Amino acid sequence: MISRRGLIAGGALTAVGALTAPPVRTPAQAAVAVEPFHGPHQAGIATPPQAHAVFVGLDLAPDTGKEAVVRLLQLLTDDARRLTQARPALADTEPELAATAARLTITFGFGPGLFAAVKAESPVAPLPSFTIDKLDKRWSGGDLLVQICADDGVTVAHTLRMIVKDARAFAKVRWVQRGFQSATRRNLMGQVDGTVQPVDLDRAVWISQGPAWLRGGTTLVLRRIRMSLESWDAADRVAMEFTIGRRLDTGAPLTGRAERDEPDYNQVNRLGFPIISEYAHIRRAHVTDPGLRILRRPYNYDEGLTPDGKSDSGLLFASYQADIDRQFLPIQRNLAKGDLLNEWITPVGSAVFAIPPGCAPEGWIGDSLLG
Ligand code: HEM
Repeated sequence: MISRRGLIAGGALTAVGALTAPPVRTPAQAAVAVEPFHGPHQAGIATPPQAHAVFVGLDLAPDTGKEAVVRLLQLLTDDARRLTQARPALADTEPELAATAARLTITFGFGPGLFAAVKAESPVAPLPSFTIDKLDKRWSGGDLLVQICADDGVTVAHTLRMIVKDARAFAKVRWVQRGFQSATRRNLMGQVDGTVQPVDLDRAVWISQGPAWLRGGTTLVLRRIRMSLESWDAADRVAMEFTIGRRLDTGAPLTGRAERDEPDYNQVNRLGFPIISEYAHIRRAHVTDPGLRILRRPYNYDEGLTPDGKSDSGLLFASYQADIDRQFLPIQRNLAKGDLLNEWITPVGSAVFAIPPGCAPEGWIGDSLLG
């Protein structure tokens, strides 16, 4: 069970919620709820998912060297330290908006290009390409990631503006990807999403080996996955449930009754066929060693309609894991090879980042590498 501490109205300290269960608060409490910024890990990963998110991929200006990267990270850490604690950023143009933290978290990640700029070895590399991919450059890559999440959409928008303004002298925006979550944890295909997650984050998510500077950090794979909702809607419920291996109403595995029931992959029907198909999403994505699970923190996206009137929606699939090669890639390969869901989903963006550990009150994000 992951626990975290949240500051609620009046400054009282309370232990709240698990990853999948944001605490129930009155609107006034929700507006002022604050997530801690400092600590061994960055916030925004084990934090119970907030309702709104924006992921920003930045590219460093040409010839940016280590000194400039340090200044940029110090500046952005200062913004994050203030804004997440409901204090205006320095020279905040709308300081009133900072008062509504709404569990704001700001998480930084370093792409391969940032390591090249500071002449350090990159612990991450772009993913190999998969046959299912139709990647668009405008949703892929990036030197620096800023992930902004909060329960209030205005808070997210204001934070994004402050961060982009302060980064402007050093970097330009490569992409912005906005997402939202439902308290029901349902995605736009109607499925309950995020049932099976790692339990021991110290094994599955936080890095404890390899370069010392990265210990307490993790990695992020961000995939933008388009859903063909029109053809999905044309499928019948039996096909939809067969595709995932779980029921739409309860999220229970096809071999069980409740969401948290263990799927029984050996059960067969009267004809001798497995009830959870060999090509069902949950079977293809399942790993037996819980230490090799990935932490999924997906957000829905919906950009309205394409020019031909089709929905432009899907998932910003954010996956955190200690080791991309050992955890993410085997799952993604299995899915690319034979997931029934591939009929309706297409990866259109892909980016990878090393997420440095958190920092101390006098430190800044990245200081263990560049300090
Ligand atoms: C639009 C794309 C996707 C949709 C709609 C989707 C939906 C789902 C749903 C409904 C479940 C069952 C409930 C749960 O445990 O969360 C699930 C499970 C899972 N998915 Fe996905 N998924 C998508 C893409 C991916 C991708 C790209 C990966 C990894 C590369 C992935 C990895 C997993 C894993 C690891 C599980 C848990 C498997 C287990 O039971 O052990 N999914 N997904």
